[in-house]
Amino acid sequence: MTPARQHRIQVVAHRGASEEAPEHTLAAYKKAIEDGADALECDVRLTADGHLVCVHDRRINRTSNGRGAVSALELADLAALDFGSWKRTPAGRARTEDPDWEHRPEDPAETSVLTLERLLELVADAGRRVELAIETKHPTRWAGQVEERLLMLLKRFGLDAPAAPEESPVRIMSFSARSLHRVRAASPTLPTVYLMQFVSPRLRDGRLPAGVGIAGPSIRIVRSHPMYVERLRRAGHQVHVWTVNEPEDVDLCVGLGVNAIITNRPRAVLHRLGR
Ligand code: G3P
Ligand code: CA
Repeated sequence: MTPARQHRIQVVAHRGASEEAPEHTLAAYKKAIEDGADALECDVRLTADGHLVCVHDRRINRTSNGRGAVSALELADLAALDFGSWKRTPAGRARTEDPDWEHRPEDPAETSVLTLERLLELVADAGRRVELAIETKHPTRWAGQVEERLLMLLKRFGLDAPAAPEESPVRIMSFSARSLHRVRAASPTLPTVYLMQFVSPRLRDGRLPAGVGIAGPSIRIVRSHPMYVERLRRAGHQVHVWTVNEPEDVDLCVGLGVNAIITNRPRAVLHRLGR
């Protein structure tokens, strides 16, 4: 397919280089930076004692050796757990115990629970510009606390009030328009991404929640309704597509001129893009 893009497509490592390393761990994010990803995606949740941690599921059962909801556990409880060994090699061995895995972390901290604060430090120390796409998960449960804590933390890093959205190295994503509205009300220049899993009237019309500049459709939507990408772009929105892992989907995104590809395989996607 002939590339239609006029711009450089951003490659975003979804939960880090999460095909290879356990998702949302320092090991996965370090690998993504090493692979050359332009940006890192992470999901954030609040612990019972008010810390933002990078965990996708409501419960920790799938990605750790513990059990329970993140919201019912304190950071110290989570810090005692292993968030790495669940990840298996194709042969079924724990990734972290695989002697052939060149990125096997020596330090248990690399596969323990990751706070958003630690991830911000990692990005600050990356030695090059690495952007961060932070997704708020189930924000209604905490009635604004996730966004409040998030903005407080970004403020500590001088990242809460960029001069203009296009200059910001951080953007906030959510499936919840209400969550994005809270972010925009407090920090109008922080870019926001409205995530979409299914086709909706909003998507059909190329219309995002007020003030939101970026659309985040799933690759399933893009495959079935590629014309919506053009419609969103004509309406002046950027389009960031998730989760794009297959080479033919990368080519489809390139042909449609999307702005960002969110992938579990940053190295393979960069290679496909000739970078
Ligand atoms: O980048 C957006 C994507 O991460 C949304 O889906 O379930 O992987 O958080 P999910
Ligand atoms: Ca996510």
